[in-house]
Amino acid sequence: MTFRAYILGAAAGGGLPQWNCGCEICNLARTGAIPSQTQSSLAVTADGESWAILNASPDVRQQLADATPLHPTDLRSLPLSAVLVTNGDIDHVAGLLTLREMQPFTLFATTGIHDVLAQNPMFDALNHDVVTRQTIALDTPFSILPGMTATLFAVPGKVPLYLEKGEIQTDLIGDQTVGVKLETAGKTVFYIPGCALLNDDLRTRLDGADLLFFDGTLWQDDEMVRAGLGQKTGKRMGHMSMNGADGSLVAFQSLSIGQKIYVHMNNTNPVLRPNSVEKAAAEAAGWTIGQDGMEIT
Ligand code: MLT
Ligand code: MN
Ligand code: ZN
Repeated sequence: MTFRAYILGAAAGGGLPQWNCGCEICNLARTGAIPSQTQSSLAVTADGESWAILNASPDVRQQLADATPLHPTDLRSLPLSAVLVTNGDIDHVAGLLTLREMQPFTLFATTGIHDVLAQNPMFDALNHDVVTRQTIALDTPFSILPGMTATLFAVPGKVPLYLEKGEIQTDLIGDQTVGVKLETAGKTVFYIPGCALLNDDLRTRLDGADLLFFDGTLWQDDEMVRAGLGQKTGKRMGHMSMNGADGSLVAFQSLSIGQKIYVHMNNTNPVLRPNSVEKAAAEAAGWTIGQDGMEIT
């Protein structure tokens, strides 16, 4: 058994370029000067034959077309056997609607996330006789694939944007936003595409991991405000940024992690420009900037 990961989509919600964004980075992607990136999803396998996708992005159709290891092997045989979602955000669940073609797989999520999906009858398009819903309790290991164990744990975050009402707690600890720990052949891998802050619980969990995929939404907390694209900060969206005193570059400095890869980058994040000083700074701090199609073994 050998752990393999394939980044289906490295961008945050909206992707790069985002359809309605005329910022410099989106325009560079439109002209092909820098690579485009699709929305947040990671495929993993332990045996190379059966794969799980972590989050089902609105781009899953194109992602699966581009990912050779996930292509059908026979008329209706697919190496994809599991889908796990880490929150109810549209960029992480809308792709489920694309996966509705009477194709059997197991859909793993917490009670809270399954409930959000069940409240929307459109997701019943995933026939309950064909797509098995499996509810996963926090901090309880389960078999996600042959040769791979997964454990879900609470990560500070917030409810999906479309469920926000009243006062919003952006660092809520519960089962609405989770991280995933994967274990294969003695290796430990973490996938955390959304995280409001690195608390002591997370520090203890992540220290010593072999591989980490982590929330790289923004470089700077106020970058969308500065760019004149909106009023929201990273904190308000439930994402810790890379740079700054409370950013992930500093927060991870004292932890020992074999390989650290940023995923879920927003289109405003300058690390998406291959020659940017910000990308060089993240790399100097030991991070890899995830890209669509990147494979890690
Ligand atoms: C997020 O990651 O903050 C959400 O995906 C934002 C959104 O729903 O557009
Ligand atoms: Mn998102
Ligand atoms: Zn943009």
